[in-house]
Amino acid sequence: MTLAPFGRRLAPLVENRRIGAYQLLIVDDPDGPRDPQPGQFYMLATEERWGAGEGERPYLPRAFSFARAREGRLWFLLEDIGPGTHRLAQVGEGENLWITGPLGIGFDEPAGRPLLVGGGIGAAPLLCLQDQLGPETKVLLGFRSADHAEAANLFAGEPQIATDDGSVGKHALVTELLREELDLRPPTSGLRPTVYSCGPPPMLEAVRALASERGVAAQLALESGMACGFGACFGCVVPTKDGYVRLCVDGPVLDAADLVPGGVGH
Ligand SMILES: Cc1cc2nc3c(=O)[nH]c(=O)nc-3n(C[C@H](O)[C@H](O)[C@H](O)COP(=O)(O)OP(=O)(O)OC[C@H]3O[C@@H](n4cnc5c(N)ncnc54)[C@H](O)[C@@H]3O)c2cc1C
Ligand code: FES
Repeated sequence: MTLAPFGRRLAPLVENRRIGAYQLLIVDDPDGPRDPQPGQFYMLATEERWGAGEGERPYLPRAFSFARAREGRLWFLLEDIGPGTHRLAQVGEGENLWITGPLGIGFDEPAGRPLLVGGGIGAAPLLCLQDQLGPETKVLLGFRSADHAEAANLFAGEPQIATDDGSVGKHALVTELLREELDLRPPTSGLRPTVYSCGPPPMLEAVRALASERGVAAQLALESGMACGFGACFGCVVPTKDGYVRLCVDGPVLDAADLVPGGVGH
């Protein structure tokens, strides 16, 4: 686990680029750790106009996995789904973001043959994981449409793609690609895979169930609403076999074997 420097810091935005349905933000973070762990996250806010308007209450910072860390720069891939992500998507190059992080616990050092499985914006933390593991690492990605699937071009090699509407790749859910891959190389074949996955809760629940059915290890990067990001508010708790844990400090990456069936999408 890489520890965050104390407090928040200002990071200038050096690039804000559209990648299909998503927005890629690249910030300069010369004072932050160079080696955040894939799966860790940062709390982001804009320096200016972070709130509903003049005289109104400001927003809380929002949580984002880093998608890439290179030469003192951090990449974030955003889906504009609400007021906070909308404002962040509009930040101009040269403007500043407030960043805190890296926070939480990311993916473990890989044991076995890594298999990366992402759904939608959940592709973000798998990008830096592939950077770490090497370009030959197998990646399966599922998206709503071809527009969303443009994010796959950020990966090395040729990730296998599934889309909900069949506009690119296989007309299927990404869990179907995972099932096929596990059929090809069952754990008994000696090439024991470990699944690393991030995506929407129903997808992660399906990955958890499939990994459990096939006896395959899986690490899942979960999401929940995060108000503080450092363990103080208990707003991010998720159920595990050992009781509730705070996703921001005990996760966001959890071992699938520790999760209760149906608990991922609680
Ligand atoms: C550890 C972590 C990593 C994340 N990484 C990324 C990332 O790399 N890229 C990215 O685009 N987003 C990521 N998110 C999600 C991101 O934090 C939310 O999309 C953002 O907070 C939404 O803020 P908003 O003001 O735009 O929308 P809001 O108005 O806050 O939310 C819009 C809608 O989305 C729901 N929602 C908001 N946040 C979450 C959440 N965390 N889980 C489930 N539903 C939610 C709300 O209930 C509401 O229905 C991550 C979240 C976590 C916890
Ligand atoms: S976000 Fe506040 S305790 Fe996790």
